Amino acid sequence: MRTLAALSFTLLLSAVPALSQVTVGATPPMGWNSWNHFAGRVTDADVRGAADMLVATGMRDAGYTYVNVDDTWEGKRDSQGLLHTNERFPDMKALGDYIHSKGLKFGIYSSPGAKTCGGFEGSLGHEAQDAKMYAEWGVDYLKYDLCSFQDDMRKVKAEHPNESDAAKNLMIVAYRKMGDALKATGRPILYSLCQYGVDQPWRWGPGVGAQMWRTTDDIDDSYGRMIAIGFSQAGLAKYAGPGHWNDPDMLEIGNGKMTEEEYRTHMSLWVLLAAPLIAGNDLSKMNEADKNLLMNKEAIAIDQDALGKQGDRLYQSGDFDVWTKPLSDGRIAVGLFNRSWDNREVSVDLAEIGFRNGARLRDVWKQKDLGQQSGVFTDTIPKHGVTLLIVSK
Ligand code: GLA
Repeated sequence: MRTLAALSFTLLLSAVPALSQVTVGATPPMGWNSWNHFAGRVTDADVRGAADMLVATGMRDAGYTYVNVDDTWEGKRDSQGLLHTNERFPDMKALGDYIHSKGLKFGIYSSPGAKTCGGFEGSLGHEAQDAKMYAEWGVDYLKYDLCSFQDDMRKVKAEHPNESDAAKNLMIVAYRKMGDALKATGRPILYSLCQYGVDQPWRWGPGVGAQMWRTTDDIDDSYGRMIAIGFSQAGLAKYAGPGHWNDPDMLEIGNGKMTEEEYRTHMSLWVLLAAPLIAGNDLSKMNEADKNLLMNKEAIAIDQDALGKQGDRLYQSGDFDVWTKPLSDGRIAVGLFNRSWDNREVSVDLAEIGFRNGARLRDVWKQKDLGQQSGVFTDTIPKHGVTLLIVSK
């Protein structure tokens, strides 16, 4: 008996870290990241300001809890290999403490390569040391960006021209190395891969300990780029679920170069994709439209739905795109997208999505019940716009 009890106690103990890891990223991560707005200019004060604004605007309470410092915080390594910050980030532990004091979580950035994409120090050869340092700083999230590791991959490819997977395998080993190093710290740190979708990370990401992985190259604040990324996600739904998410890159809402309808398309598509919702705007300059888009509770609930299923394309015809996402309690979220330059009618056949006897419809952005409907539902959608519906019995 004693042996059995001791054994189950040991099993319980060894299960604890694993369980705490599972709770990381149970729904698509939400937060803010410095890159899309501040890029290489970001400072400690900007990040503290963002944390303050997440609280003041209600973004934190809407679910945006990660505050992520992207590239360009890094300084030089000392003779012990310990990485220091640069002058724009005088004290990372203090920054982490500040973020935590606001009820938020702290994210950081590095690369498996010698250099980050901004040319700063990466983690190559220092993975365990860096992971330990992140844990000491209270880091809760690491974005790990391929960057100069692509040079290492090109080199191995040239050296092994007959091994088609040589570069891919080298990359997977590098990502697994940091995944293992993060686990070894004992601190639950969400692991976010950023390698632009090279070699289908949705197939091997979970195996290296990642909770999310970028599926494409970088987004920018333009309608063309945003829809190119968003609508190219068709077919990836089966790789997403609690604890492992496809990441079509961060949000551009509020950065000013798209119309309100275009940003509505951005948010609608990202919630249908169960995408991580990482805002990338200057939170101190949000207008009412940006706030309504980023903080619409029903839109966020589609993204965060407990079923944890990513949506997919139902059909596409010319400039129309109809996407559906299964939700808990037998409900379905539907996005009717108009990519044309004119206002157009877009339809969905309710029978085709499983509601043969009709359904109740709710317009998420108008925050309006549309009552009981049956057959084909048609709506007039503004140019580059969307109607986002919740359909239920
Ligand atoms: C890459 C990433 C971006 C950002 C920059 C920083 O381009 O994809 O999201 O992190 O690097 O240099």
